[in-house]
Amino acid sequence: MDNNIIYVGVNISDNGLFEGQYITPEGMAYNSYLIVDEKVCLMDSVDIKAGELWLDNISKALNGRDIDYLVLSHVEPDHSYHIRKIVELYPNIKIVGTVQAFKFIGQFYDFDLANRTIVVGNGDTLSLGEHTLDFYTAPMVHWPEVMMTYESSSKTLFSADAFGKFGTNDIEGSWECEARRYYFNIVGKYGANVQMILKKLSTLTIETICPLHGNILDKNIGHYIDLYDTWSLYMPEVDGVFIAYSSVYGNTESVAKRLHQLLKDSGIKTSISDLARSDMAENIEDVFKYSKIVFATTTYENTIFPVMEELLSHLVQKGMANKVVGIIDNGTWAPQVTKVITSKLAALKNIDFLEQSVLIKSAPSEDTWTALEDFKNALISATPYHK
Ligand code: FEO
Repeated sequence: MDNNIIYVGVNISDNGLFEGQYITPEGMAYNSYLIVDEKVCLMDSVDIKAGELWLDNISKALNGRDIDYLVLSHVEPDHSYHIRKIVELYPNIKIVGTVQAFKFIGQFYDFDLANRTIVVGNGDTLSLGEHTLDFYTAPMVHWPEVMMTYESSSKTLFSADAFGKFGTNDIEGSWECEARRYYFNIVGKYGANVQMILKKLSTLTIETICPLHGNILDKNIGHYIDLYDTWSLYMPEVDGVFIAYSSVYGNTESVAKRLHQLLKDSGIKTSISDLARSDMAENIEDVFKYSKIVFATTTYENTIFPVMEELLSHLVQKGMANKVVGIIDNGTWAPQVTKVITSKLAALKNIDFLEQSVLIKSAPSEDTWTALEDFKNALISATPYHK
């Protein structure tokens, strides 16, 4: 990375729930960057938990210089919390953001930024000396005020929340897993908006991506952009089967697990999850990742088991599309699962329900295992969607 672009963000290992709902077993990074040139520009603030360390990092990186600009890529408080403090410490600073960014600042915080705001829009630029910032608005990725910044001399994209992930930046391991969980849970509903910004950026040469969370990306940039393209098109990333199940007494579970084994024995990529005992955000991620989904659950209060209902409501809200779907239906006296699931998913695009389904009457019988064999074969033969 350009030596004059300095990382001043903070890793928080014991982060608790991110955005009030997502577990972060590997903590969270709140990224911020200083661009040091004739003018000095700070890219974004950080979360309430990270303030002291952030200010200390900035002070060290400045080496006695003042800050001319603070660019606001996104006003969600995990990136804007300490604006008041930075203005107090660096009173000459001007704040750069979109019209909507300043509107939201006014709603979240009680301070006056009059005479220190620079309102920018798509296509505007700001020269720092040798570095030039080109602004690209990215509305609804995943808030309306979001703006990305391309620094042309270093070919660096400051990408706001896009290309971010859960986890601190000092954790080794795959980017994809926690970036995918982050994408589908936080940005997933806004695929069309992600497609729009990918189009806007498609003429640029990008050598480095500096997101607001997670590692700086400076190798294989095409790989990350390609994944964002696949994800935002709602296309599966893996041709295989994800089995999401809930089970009251273990009977639905035994059928789901048998299917998982049969698929593995047939060489099919497959993953299985007990919805009542796993992270819902991870389950949502896996649904979007795989081409074929099996929902296995029980009838409950004349509808379906609550944890399955919760998963389906997330999938509908996020606009799941392009899936082959199979249903394993357990009911003791009035099975409802097939009816409820097909009706809940009816409005989604390109959902191909298997004609075969598996009905468990309380506990699996010989008929269940025979039906499961046909179901497995139909699942394997079904044509998956792909990009
Ligand atoms: Fe990282 Fe949307 O805030």
